Amino acid sequence: MKRKKIVAGNWKMNMNIDESKNLVSQLKEISAANVDIKIAPSFTNLYLTNSLLESSKIDVISQDLHHEQSGAYTGEISADMLLSIGVKTSIVGHSERRKYFNESDIILSKKVNSAIQNSMNVIFCIGEELSERNNNNHFEIIKSQLLNGIFHLEVSNFQNIIIAYEPVWAIGTGMTASSDQIQEMHEFIRNLIKSNYGIETSESVRILYGGSVKPNNAKEIFSLEDVDGGLIGGASLNASDFSEIVKAANEL
Ligand code: 13P
Repeated sequence: MKRKKIVAGNWKMNMNIDESKNLVSQLKEISAANVDIKIAPSFTNLYLTNSLLESSKIDVISQDLHHEQSGAYTGEISADMLLSIGVKTSIVGHSERRKYFNESDIILSKKVNSAIQNSMNVIFCIGEELSERNNNNHFEIIKSQLLNGIFHLEVSNFQNIIIAYEPVWAIGTGMTASSDQIQEMHEFIRNLIKSNYGIETSESVRILYGGSVKPNNAKEIFSLEDVDGGLIGGASLNASDFSEIVKAANEL
């Protein structure tokens, strides 16, 4: 089955409002018929970037959300708030949230539930640490992150789910996983979805790779059978690098 590629830029905690405006003005022109393009700016930039990109092909998404709809949760942002400014998709479970903010599988599954109940889309991130791979534990880790994070969902919910496999050791290190490692893990993930939800779902769900994707390796990674695009960190902060990566996906 041919799945439409996704290239999503995760800006992380970068870009103040002026820098965002500048980057967005350069990104505005990007269009690629075969690619769904997304960017995830920080909360303070969401409203403005979304307004500036309204007539473009770029979808503005959130880096995170809280699992409650409203209430006494100082510093947090809910699905309802995101929807109210036109943001319909959120990343959930990025390894930096898991690691630096102690977001457990239980919390992450609640975030997924909140997004789904609000008809939002989720880019659900999973990935192993280097020590886990070195101990040959990586498949078990990925399986448990999926089981605990999203495998409680109904089959119909998978229309709103995108998975991003991001090996923690490849994030921001310039150390990309090899093509064999990437394809092997993506196939493993797709097979798990198949055994839990059936072939129709496993063939339609999009699985992105993240971890040091750059213009010079994007095409090779995106051409792997079970890779449906990428979640891009560092290179998404540079308009020409990000455009090159989108172009690589569009040509496949
Ligand atoms: P880098 O592309 O900077 O390695 O980051 C990947 C990532 O964490 C995207 O969410």
